[in-house]
Amino acid sequence: MARGMATMAVVGTTAEDAAAGPATPVNGTPAVAAPPATGADVTVPESRGRADAGVPTTPLVAPVAGAPVDAVAAPTLAAPTVATAAERPRPRPQPVAEPAPAAPVVAPVDPAEAEEFLRLFHTEAEEPGATAVKGVAARAASFEERLAEVRDEIARTGTYVHTSAELTFGARVAWRQSARCIGRLYWRSLHLRDRRHVVAPDEVAAECVGHVDEATRRGRIRSTITVFAPDTPTSPGPRVWNEQLIRYAGYRTGGRVLGDPRYVGFTDHARTLGWVPPSPMGRFDVLPLVVSGGGSFAAQGPQIYEIPPEKVLEVDLEHPDHRWFADLGLRWHALPVISNMRLDIGGVSYPAAPFNGWYMATEIGARNLADAERYDMLAEVAGKMGLDTSNDRTMWRDRAAVELTLAVQHSFDVAGVSMADHHGESARFLRHLEREEQSGRKCPVDWSWIVPPISGGLTPVFHRYYDEPTDTGPMFRMDPVQAARGQGCPM
Ligand code: ARG
Repeated sequence: MARGMATMAVVGTTAEDAAAGPATPVNGTPAVAAPPATGADVTVPESRGRADAGVPTTPLVAPVAGAPVDAVAAPTLAAPTVATAAERPRPRPQPVAEPAPAAPVVAPVDPAEAEEFLRLFHTEAEEPGATAVKGVAARAASFEERLAEVRDEIARTGTYVHTSAELTFGARVAWRQSARCIGRLYWRSLHLRDRRHVVAPDEVAAECVGHVDEATRRGRIRSTITVFAPDTPTSPGPRVWNEQLIRYAGYRTGGRVLGDPRYVGFTDHARTLGWVPPSPMGRFDVLPLVVSGGGSFAAQGPQIYEIPPEKVLEVDLEHPDHRWFADLGLRWHALPVISNMRLDIGGVSYPAAPFNGWYMATEIGARNLADAERYDMLAEVAGKMGLDTSNDRTMWRDRAAVELTLAVQHSFDVAGVSMADHHGESARFLRHLEREEQSGRKCPVDWSWIVPPISGGLTPVFHRYYDEPTDTGPMFRMDPVQAARGQGCPM
């Protein structure tokens, strides 16, 4: 059963806001202690492997993701009605305990990187048939003309502005290069929301809500990316602190955690910024967005924004055969939107570029709800199944993980929400590999992320070797500062 498509809902960010009544879909609350900006934002290759599942990993790009990742998410914000900037509630300025963060220093674009990207764009746009990138083939100029123009622009300004065709192509190729993503067959279909003019935190938040809305489509999920202003030598772009736009809070209560333990730190940080959790607190409370503006807004530090609940589509989990399963009270959100990776294209870096695909059932059933450091539901499920949990050799964990994943897949199907399964997606991934080979390209793959967390050997992706992940070309990257912030460390 799908939740969250109700009507209008308004949530106050602070007790005061809540009391102020409805009509405030977006609430901003300035930082108490302004976290220093991102002077240290350094782009580094993502960390690898499943061992770091508890650390902000690098998500796969769009559609279906394979294994580990999790990113945080924050509820969708404001939204539809939010319309004009004038109507939008402004964050109330508050005294800041620390000096405003300095704007990140970004080096001028390396013309060689720009050239490499432009060459790729022009080469692929000229390829016939299936390899041409749908919808972006329109080039305003020849490669030579465009290169001269870009060189000149870099010399004058230290950066350059991508045409919208270049941006679309760059974002799609960044997805194509995402070594951890099993859903790359659809890389050409990525839908771009070009929001490069947006730097104000209220507007960033509202656009994040718009993203959730447009990508969810009542369950017919569309792979989408929203690109905000880039970092330039003279002005920082905005940042979204959440790992994912939609994620659940985690509350430490005594020795235990209510909700998602992965986000205990983030939840604490949101509370220091003024977020007031629902009362009573629950296991699936959608976190607020935490956003720092770009340009002159950067000095304000992070602001929080509630996502209107009706924008967040969720699915209540039930099992096709076990009636008791629904009583566990489990659910999950429909849309995974990774929001703290930067998008690098041809030397230009976009620090806020939230992107989504749709879920694969194992991500939720065999990781988010199963991992010991997440919702840790296997023992309870096994208990209800009547399994002997006193000994690993009964394989109760394995059996419970399969049933949990089956429940997820079944429930999403019943609710009409897009969801991949690991068998189908593995087969599609091999088709993608084949196509890439035919196009004469390498396909970088991180095996440990592509192989699903259950039944690995039952899927074809298990049984082969792949090209190594690369670190050049258009890429999604996790920088350490953003990674730490996604876990609640206000550095
Ligand atoms: N594994 C992450 C999660 O459970 C999502 C990563 C992206 N997944 C995707 N199917 N696009 O939320």
